[in-house]
Amino acid sequence: MPHEIDVVAKICAHHNHDPAALLEILHDTQEEFGCVSDDAARTIAERLNISRADIHGVRSFYGDFSRQADKPKLKLCRAEACQAVGSEELARRLSDKGIASETIYCLGNCALGPAAMIGERLIGRASVELLEAELADD
Ligand code: FES
Repeated sequence: MPHEIDVVAKICAHHNHDPAALLEILHDTQEEFGCVSDDAARTIAERLNISRADIHGVRSFYGDFSRQADKPKLKLCRAEACQAVGSEELARRLSDKGIASETIYCLGNCALGPAAMIGERLIGRASVELLEAELADD
């Protein structure tokens, strides 16, 4: 299962581990997780072979990187079974509508994907419309 470190490592690889792309890497990381956590910063520093102080400098200079995610209420599974039934497209459409979601890798509801969770409520066969209605209900 991919987790934060793997995803951040992939983002770094996508930018050819180029320290000049640090800002884009931070942006991509923030977009994926809603923040640039200390673990993410450590991984980026290792992969780009730069110091954590460099990252800290950029992160503080551009105040729009938070260290902790303001956790969105909505969690969206983007693991394999849910991907196979459209979770990526769903994530894209939600983000187009400005609805923030936290990526989760398996909610244990694989048979009813795409799976989502709002608070403690598990939602199967999620669609943008269904999630909008559920969020409005919340
Ligand atoms: S893969 Fe999405 S709930 Fe398991």
